[in-house]
Amino acid sequence: SRYQKGVRHLCDSGITKVPRKYILPISDRPNSFKGDQNAENLSINLPIIDFSQLQGPNRYQVLNSLAKACEEYGFFQLVNHGIANDAIVKMIDVGRRFFELPFDERAKFMTADMYSPVRYGTSFNQNKDGVFCWRDFLKLSCNPVSEVLSFWPSSPVDLRLAAVNYSKETKGLYLMLMEAILESLGLVGATKEESDSLKEFEDGSQLMVVNCYPSCPEPDLTLGMPPHSDYGLLTLLLQDEVRGLQIQHEEKWVTVEPIPNSFVVNVGDHLEIFSNGRYKSVLHRVLVNSSNSRISVASLHSLPVETIVKPSPKLINEANPRLYKDTDFATFLKYISSCEPKSKNFLQSRR
Ligand code: SIN
Ligand code: FE2
Repeated sequence: SRYQKGVRHLCDSGITKVPRKYILPISDRPNSFKGDQNAENLSINLPIIDFSQLQGPNRYQVLNSLAKACEEYGFFQLVNHGIANDAIVKMIDVGRRFFELPFDERAKFMTADMYSPVRYGTSFNQNKDGVFCWRDFLKLSCNPVSEVLSFWPSSPVDLRLAAVNYSKETKGLYLMLMEAILESLGLVGATKEESDSLKEFEDGSQLMVVNCYPSCPEPDLTLGMPPHSDYGLLTLLLQDEVRGLQIQHEEKWVTVEPIPNSFVVNVGDHLEIFSNGRYKSVLHRVLVNSSNSRISVASLHSLPVETIVKPSPKLINEANPRLYKDTDFATFLKYISSCEPKSKNFLQSRR
């Protein structure tokens, strides 16, 4: 159908109303009252983790804040992360220009293959969503960058360079964060076994997703992304200055205030499983608005595709019984292609 071509294409064709295909049932709309959901727009200041402080004498305090953030929010804002501003600005900019290319240029990368090194698409899962989301995306797999680079778009001309650089910077940051996370869980010691597990994180998979949410004539009727949790260990999200991301906190949807030059970092399903439920993979969604389009770049990090994800044996004891079954990527992929992204059913299915 014409909606498969994406929201950007739709907007370029000049619409003044949201087509029926994007209109959510009343109960799923952004401002519906649900339980004790407040219709007023709540915003939240996420816990702030100062990455530069992790390297100094305050490491211990920062690890405590990190643990608390992952337990209570599943999210935090990472500041002073050490990635050059230039790398970030270029990535956002090249992403924005990709979506400004003529549709036929973007359409070259449309595919239903979930394993494709590059995938341009729309909605959440355009092959099965009944109601479409107000979002177009470009997914770049980075496994490994040297082997997939030649499949990535060569237009805009600086896309590959900006994306390679950005993927390397975020991977490095992710590994340092993961090391801190392991330490915050009490899992870093001097034994060989533990150094092996860090190696496994280095070999893990990385997927970059550039999201484009065009401005929307009737933003109360639709969502940029439906409620979902991320599947991997950690997601590092770069958002521009336009609000839109909401997380579920204390049973309410709250808007994450953008902080310039920071990353929004969140715990994914695999880290919830690995931590045996101590760190939470939290539902989040994206609102759209009528005045601004919004760009975000998510870098999703997980274990190598063939790895079995399970709770760390060190986090299981009499007081903390094992909460999750073994799981693997194949099971996960089968799961997401077979159901609606309505809730965190995947984690429940692994209990
Ligand atoms: C995501 O949930 O993966 C993207 C969130 C956003 O665009 O802010
Ligand atoms: Fe997400």
